[in-house]
Amino acid sequence: MIFILIILALIVSVYIYLTWNFDYWQKRNVPAPKATPFFGNTPNNFLRKQHVTYDIDKIYNEFKGKTPFVGFIQTREPQLMLLEPEVVKDVLIRKFNAFRNNPFTDMIDPKNDPLFAQNPFFLKDEEWKEKRAEITPAFTINRLKVLYPLIQDVLLRMVKYIQDKIDDTFDARELCAKYTVDVVSNCIFGIDAQSFVKEKPEIREMGRKLFAPSTLIFVKMFIVNSFPFLKKFVKVQFSTFEVQQFFVDLMKQTLKYREENKIQREDFLDHVIQLRKKKNLDETAMASHTISFFTDGFETSSIAIAHALYELAKNKRVQNKLREEVNKNCDGNGLVSFETLNEMSYLDQCFYEALRMHPPAMFTSRICDETVDLEFEGKKVTVDKGMNVFLPIIQMHYDPEIFLEPNKFHPERFDDGELKNYRDRCALIPFGNGGRQCLGMKFALMQSKAALAAIVHNFEISVNEKTQDNPLVLDPNEFLNIKIGGLWLNFTRLSV
Ligand code: HEM
Ligand SMILES: *[C@@H]1O[C@H](CO)[C@@H](O)[C@H](O)[C@H]1NC(C)=O
Repeated sequence: MIFILIILALIVSVYIYLTWNFDYWQKRNVPAPKATPFFGNTPNNFLRKQHVTYDIDKIYNEFKGKTPFVGFIQTREPQLMLLEPEVVKDVLIRKFNAFRNNPFTDMIDPKNDPLFAQNPFFLKDEEWKEKRAEITPAFTINRLKVLYPLIQDVLLRMVKYIQDKIDDTFDARELCAKYTVDVVSNCIFGIDAQSFVKEKPEIREMGRKLFAPSTLIFVKMFIVNSFPFLKKFVKVQFSTFEVQQFFVDLMKQTLKYREENKIQREDFLDHVIQLRKKKNLDETAMASHTISFFTDGFETSSIAIAHALYELAKNKRVQNKLREEVNKNCDGNGLVSFETLNEMSYLDQCFYEALRMHPPAMFTSRICDETVDLEFEGKKVTVDKGMNVFLPIIQMHYDPEIFLEPNKFHPERFDDGELKNYRDRCALIPFGNGGRQCLGMKFALMQSKAALAAIVHNFEISVNEKTQDNPLVLDPNEFLNIKIGGLWLNFTRLSV
């Protein structure tokens, strides 16, 4: 009998604990959907039957237009979702000081994940500022320009690879991953990763492992998201020891080779070597900087390029128009110069339109550091210190009040300076915005647009029947925007 009572008491306390915050938003007069015990408003965080993005869609679509901010519950934690670009701009830019950290910052343990320990994305406050400042100079226009010929080499290898296998069909994501792994290895280490030559290129395989979220990672993410006080005890470890060792060794070998052969190259490693001298970095810290570039650099961009190719394959009118622009601007080798690449406006619009429809990172978040008010058209919410503010990137990108006919791939919507306008308003935020905006944005734009130009110049692309796009469905086992079944494309050689 006592036993049953204890069990009952236990169940009741767990229930009370899990639903403790369920009236958090009601008490503050902020609209919020009804939450379910255990799941909150994001059941797929736990069930993973579907990608969590679909849970967020539901909340966004229900409340958009009725309120500028909506409260919701992630398992048991209240979070605030922003629904108006103006308010997004407040958080990302105007009130940056109160929102300079993201919730990923306490998630990892630098001891277990030394490769992520220098990555600004996982750092906060002063440390974030310092590491971000260390890396920023590596991405100036001049440095990018020095890297551009390395990218062109990889482009030629990719075009040849496609030509040699022209009767095959390609999964755009895998093809683009080969490309970005080669580019990034070249730009960081000056190493040819041989993705287009080897059957199972080692760096590509390690890159795959670096980012492949295991069930354990999902479970831990679920725990720390649901019970933030456990962040002190439960640390998410993203990279395995094997992967760490591989990249540290790779960097050491490259360093040694450079020193022995007195090689001077103005690439990313060179920047880190300069840093070592100035700041007394040890080898792990150096490896961490280079691996940050690798992790951040290849996967997001390859997803972006793959989706852009898919949309171009589906929309022949746009593809032909883009090809015209590219062909006008090519040199004898079928390549576009660094300066010209940055001037081609239709290419820019096509890529951003693909980023709008398929942003690789579908949301971002900020942690509130000091209690602050947000206001929009007379409606006000007080955001408490510690509150997680959720920015629904992909939902805003499909909001018909912001983008007319959002399901249509229509780069012309960005004609006449509208692209800048949308970005400045924080309505189009595939790279975030403000002081924590994506650090590699310019690099990402460079490598992605260069690939699109080279491909449409050399090939006509169409969607292969294998693509499961009726409709495209997000893979629930990935964090990023990855579609189930892949994006399969046919390539036809153009006489150029
Ligand atoms: C198309 C490709 C890419 C997309 C869509 C993308 C997207 C993003 C987004 C949404 C954020 C969060 C921004 C925010 O919360 O305001 C971010 C942060 C970041 N990205 Fe990217 N990214 C891309 C490529 C890259 C590349 C190539 C690099 C490095 C070489 C990079 C390095 C970073 C870093 C270091 C941060 C953290 C910045 C900070 O917290 O201070 N990203 N990115
Ligand atoms: C794609 O290629 C396959 C075989 O290579 C072919 O059967 C199919 O018809 C092609 N599809 C399109 C849309 O061109």
